[in-house]
Amino acid sequence: MRTIIEPFRIKSVEPLRQTSPEERERYLEQAGYNLFLIAADDILIDLLTDSGTSAMSTEQWAAIMRGDESYAGSASFFRLKRAVDDLTGFRHMIPTHQGRAAERILFTVMCKPGHVVPSNTHFDTTRANIEFTGARAVDLPVPTAMDTQARLDFKGNMDVLALEALIASEGPERVPLVMLTVTNNSGGGQPVSMANIEAVKHVCARHGIPLYLDACRFAENAWFIREREAGYGSWTPKRIAQKMFSTADGCTFSAKKDAFANIGGFLCSNDSRVAQQETNLLILTEGFPTYGGLAGRDLDAIATGLVEVLDIDYLRYRIASTEYLGRHIADRGVPIVEPPGGHAIYIDAERMLPHIPRAQFPAQALAVELYRHAGIRSVEIGSVMFGSSAQHELLRLAIPRRVYTQSHIDYVVEAILEVNERKQQIRGLEIVEEPPFLRHFSARFRPCLS
Ligand code: F0G
Repeated sequence: MRTIIEPFRIKSVEPLRQTSPEERERYLEQAGYNLFLIAADDILIDLLTDSGTSAMSTEQWAAIMRGDESYAGSASFFRLKRAVDDLTGFRHMIPTHQGRAAERILFTVMCKPGHVVPSNTHFDTTRANIEFTGARAVDLPVPTAMDTQARLDFKGNMDVLALEALIASEGPERVPLVMLTVTNNSGGGQPVSMANIEAVKHVCARHGIPLYLDACRFAENAWFIREREAGYGSWTPKRIAQKMFSTADGCTFSAKKDAFANIGGFLCSNDSRVAQQETNLLILTEGFPTYGGLAGRDLDAIATGLVEVLDIDYLRYRIASTEYLGRHIADRGVPIVEPPGGHAIYIDAERMLPHIPRAQFPAQALAVELYRHAGIRSVEIGSVMFGSSAQHELLRLAIPRRVYTQSHIDYVVEAILEVNERKQQIRGLEIVEEPPFLRHFSARFRPCLS
């Protein structure tokens, strides 16, 4: 059979609320044209993020009932530890309430002012947590990643020569760790090849620098390696994931992505001295080391999700579904970051709306138009989010895992193509209220008159 189906059936449903164009116009005005300020009940299809928005399986809900809420030594912790040990092989694992808590603990232990932490591309919370310690976060994507239209297999890779040059100019003692984000979220959800992970590790090892994975979307990355990298076609996604982790010295993990959990994360390390310091910090703000800021039931949901996500049928469907959305809009003239990523499609709004200058936020204007037209929520990744350091003006359509069906995706395709038909009429936005920080979440806009 050629049709790739959702490899699950639906047992519990949530109604979606249709709204009229007049209602949506009112909600937009009330929210200052900032989609973060619109109530979720007023959204039809929510593609704001793939984080914490997954549908859990019957096995995960059953695992939740098995959750052991003991303060110390919970059976749920040991089930999670076994799942993480089997997958990653890292010596130490501490649970955290989500990915950024793992980041804060890791960087508080490893970084100090004057340090530099390179990555293929840091996610924004990762960058913020590094810079909060006084260290500098540096992105070293491969140069081809800048070209949104280049259709290359592993545009999430790190520029290994640039890494060598950075270590040479800064001195290895000022580089406490190197990070690789798999897949590369801020770089368009593009995968990192096994060869690149190994090459980066090689450079790190020569200088005695540990390599950490930001592993939120490790299973999607493993699938791309299986599909695209020579020699891995017959490997299971699990074996590929195990090899990715065994090449690194530790990881941060947000279980809100590839573990299908609604909350949670963990931090792993092979270094016992580092792990001890991390555990001390964990107790300060997250909790005792066998629950780390989570309920026992959350630990069980994560343990089960880590196994389910590596299912071949699931990953085939997941990546095909994202690609379906990407190809159906791109082949009809909507410029996306090519090729389609794992968890999201990114529209290059600057290319789509050349009549809107950067100062009028083309990707934000597109997000507003897509909501106005069809009740779909997406997120701006451009000048609103990053200010003047934005490299592109992108609109991200992130796809929650196991939540929307093929017909939902068809609806999204239709809406985007209709918006594209009359894109000349889309007007830019100007900021009317700008808070000193977290502009992305709370700035208010109004449509430009011309
Ligand atoms: N690293 C990456 C690559 C991420 O995408 C995220 C979150 C985090 C770390 C932080 O994890 O949210 O559990 O604290 N990304 C979400 C997103 C928020 O929408 O892309 P967290």
